[in-house]
Amino acid sequence: MSGLGLQQQRVLSGMRPSGRLHLGHYHGVLKNWVNLQHQHECFFFVADWHVLTTHYESPEIIQNSVWDMVIDWLAAGINPGSATLFIQSQVPEHAELNLLLSMLTPLSWLERAPTYKEQQEKLKDKDLSTYGFLGYPLLQTADILVYKASAVPVGADQVPHVEMSREIARRFNHIYGKEAGFEAKAEAAVKKLGKKNAKLYTSMRRDYLQEGNEESLAKARALVESHASISLGDKDRLVGFLDGGGKIILPEPQALLTPVSKMPGLDGQKMSKSYHNTIEMREDPQIVEQKIKRMQTDPARVRLTDPGDPDNCPVYQLHEVYSSEEVKNWVREGCTTAGIGCLECKKPVIDCVLKETGEFRERAREFEENPEMVRGIIAEGSEKARDVAKETLEDVREVMGLAYR
Ligand code: TRP
Ligand code: SF4
Repeated sequence: MSGLGLQQQRVLSGMRPSGRLHLGHYHGVLKNWVNLQHQHECFFFVADWHVLTTHYESPEIIQNSVWDMVIDWLAAGINPGSATLFIQSQVPEHAELNLLLSMLTPLSWLERAPTYKEQQEKLKDKDLSTYGFLGYPLLQTADILVYKASAVPVGADQVPHVEMSREIARRFNHIYGKEAGFEAKAEAAVKKLGKKNAKLYTSMRRDYLQEGNEESLAKARALVESHASISLGDKDRLVGFLDGGGKIILPEPQALLTPVSKMPGLDGQKMSKSYHNTIEMREDPQIVEQKIKRMQTDPARVRLTDPGDPDNCPVYQLHEVYSSEEVKNWVREGCTTAGIGCLECKKPVIDCVLKETGEFRERAREFEENPEMVRGIIAEGSEKARDVAKETLEDVREVMGLAYR
């Protein structure tokens, strides 16, 4: 945990380009990003290299997928004025950090990643016994650490990868954070805090190191972070000194677990392209209507006069996402007493989905009409991202003996 307040956290997340996004992506991921962008410094990027780890034989799918996906981000309300949007491969520093971190990453950590065997099983038609695929979580680690991100919004399946990035950061700091004379430099930095704060810092540090008091650790970090007049280098030393380690060069990020979305697919399973049960964010209104009208309902309702059970009906799951209590009561009452028909029941859901997709289509239009605008947003974002990534690489190269000047 960093001592930074929530306001100062740097948030980073990536998404593999998979073409046009659907409402599952919106309710599961993008809505969350839109909220985060107003509260934090946010970096959101297209993980195009990550796609190549599984689709190296079909590179033709990448280009269009990338631009379609970025337009959907913008359609969702991600604002390039608030968040930095970029493409992974446009920031080569990710690759350089990936290479440098690979030197100290134990093979066994990668082999043990739960996604490794799992995905190989799942994508049996592809040959994934490659170096690149094994390195997937390390590349993700580089994505995160190159921005010194403090929070990484991800779904539960990605938490082990963020955990790995923490372990790799810790290992890196342990190996390279021990500058010559670290203890002496840290002691000197303590003195610079001023008498009163130095005393506080020392007692909180002791409290943590001897008693394991996490609260003291957090307080001491906050004290260091909020101290205005000491240099960044000294701050790093003071934070590193707290847990007995060295200087922190690559801070450990936290996974920010995205709440599970209730958005079901048209068949009540999770909405997913591979299940063919999606509604796209920019779906044509006629298709939206058709898809919902054709949705299966409670199989017990064969005839209009048969009562149904909303808990057995995927349409009701959509009401859970879109409808007010009032409408939901109307459905429960009408369904269980055979008072309403299924088409009637679907009507308010259709209206809500049309309203939502209509807003996306509306926002997307200017970008669809001006692809150059989208290119410009990404070019600018990639440049901004590179400026941050370059600084990290300077620190990393230096401690790894690669600063030739
Ligand atoms: N692996 C992530 C996924 O499949 C995508 C990703 C790549 C990512 N790099 C990242 C997510 C860095 C968060 C941070 O969803
Ligand atoms: Fe489903 Fe609504 Fe039909 Fe009941 S009335 S079965 S909830 S579509």
